[in-house]
Amino acid sequence: MPKRIIPVASGKGGVGKTTFAVNFALALSRRAPTILVDLDTGTSSVRSTLGVPVERDLYHFKRKGAKLADCVTRLDAGLDRAGRYRDFGFVAGPRHFLDELANPDAEFRKRLAMEINALPADFVVLDLRAGLDHNVLDFLPYTNSGVLVFTPHLPQASLAASDIVKALLFRTLRLIFRRDSEVFRLPGFDEGHDLIHELFDRAEDVYDDAVPNLDFVLRDLRDVFGDQPLLSAVEWVIHDFRVHYVLNLFDGVQESHDAAIVPFVRNLAENVSSHLDLTQLGWIVADPRVHKANCAGRPILLEAEPEAARPRPAAAAPVDPVMAELESLRTSLLGLDRKRPLRPAGPRVAAPSRDVDALLGEQLDSLKAMFSDRKRDSVQQNFNYAVFRALNLMQPPRLPTEFGMSQIAAPEQLVRWLLRRMQSATQPTA
Ligand SMILES: Nc1ncnc2c1ncn2[C@@H]1O[C@H](COP(=O)(O)OP(=O)(O)OP(=O)(O)O)[C@@H](O)[C@H]1O
Ligand SMILES: [Mg+2]
Repeated sequence: MPKRIIPVASGKGGVGKTTFAVNFALALSRRAPTILVDLDTGTSSVRSTLGVPVERDLYHFKRKGAKLADCVTRLDAGLDRAGRYRDFGFVAGPRHFLDELANPDAEFRKRLAMEINALPADFVVLDLRAGLDHNVLDFLPYTNSGVLVFTPHLPQASLAASDIVKALLFRTLRLIFRRDSEVFRLPGFDEGHDLIHELFDRAEDVYDDAVPNLDFVLRDLRDVFGDQPLLSAVEWVIHDFRVHYVLNLFDGVQESHDAAIVPFVRNLAENVSSHLDLTQLGWIVADPRVHKANCAGRPILLEAEPEAARPRPAAAAPVDPVMAELESLRTSLLGLDRKRPLRPAGPRVAAPSRDVDALLGEQLDSLKAMFSDRKRDSVQQNFNYAVFRALNLMQPPRLPTEFGMSQIAAPEQLVRWLLRRMQSATQPTA
């Protein structure tokens, strides 16, 4: 299996990115070698959540010329008595604030991305900082959102998370359709650059009501160009973009729907596109033990589970209880079991006014169904469940739009992917 890099982002601060990233990475490491990288290099909170001595960190990578792979810290016997997490490692942020790491320049971000791509692990989880600057965007994929964390406790966090999607998608579109892009060398593509960009600008500008979102960009392009490959290309990039999210501090289906999912989906549908592909990875309940565990430097997943919350033992004792439990989750593949093909070839511009309520209904239904199955889960099980769903999303066969990028890709790779797709679409089917 190729390496999978999974960035965890939120836009807003304090919603549980680090808590999720740490426990998610721990749970993933039960399946395959996993490295968590602290990219919130101003606060280094991964380091305080994992109370283990750190020999080398990002300081050594930045200042001492150490390789990133040599700055990985493993858990010690104090934290991982049974050695269950021996396939887990993390790259800590610096011990104290260091301006050149807290505000790294483009060259450093590039070097860091290259070495993240080279880390010796099957899974690499990135704990990103709050906000939406290059320190966040440079580590997010072009074709999906990574994991977005938001919470019903802070409705503004849902808007911030949907703004990440918006920023990513517009960045991707501008890159693919930049003036010197190979896309414009395809037949029928030589014109249209200026109009496309004018429409992107207007759709991104929330004060411009005439082009409220990308669905209207597609409509206007069709009016001007008719059914052309150019239109399919723009449409593919928009409609194949995949959004994955987790609700933290979960306090019930209805509350989460009203305070988190509604603002998230509405903002996406109204200001980005109502045709994005949204997938919930699960929820993490609000539990004071999570916070206590963080403060004690021993993440909740490393704590023994309370007796009552443990799954009932199967007839034959499972070899590995966590893996056995993951298997038992197979009944809950909601929203993941469908084949997720790329859209068919050929222009197929959807109406700009797809019902926002339909999109909301889908999200509520899938949350309700997941929850009715798993409502008694402990918070530890919540993390395992999110991992289970993520693992299912990462099953081969692989599409570039899917969850878990195989590397932090350079923009040229994105254009190449689109060109290949255009070419295969224009080849006659057998
Ligand atoms: N499920 C939970 N139950 C209880 N407390 C939680 C939960 N998730 C996070 N917390 C607490 O909420 C606070 C914020 O969490 P965390 O630091 O993970 O957020 P963050 O998004 O990484 O923040 P920042 O933007 O500052 O990096 C912490 O004090 C943490 O212990
Ligand atoms: Mg954090």
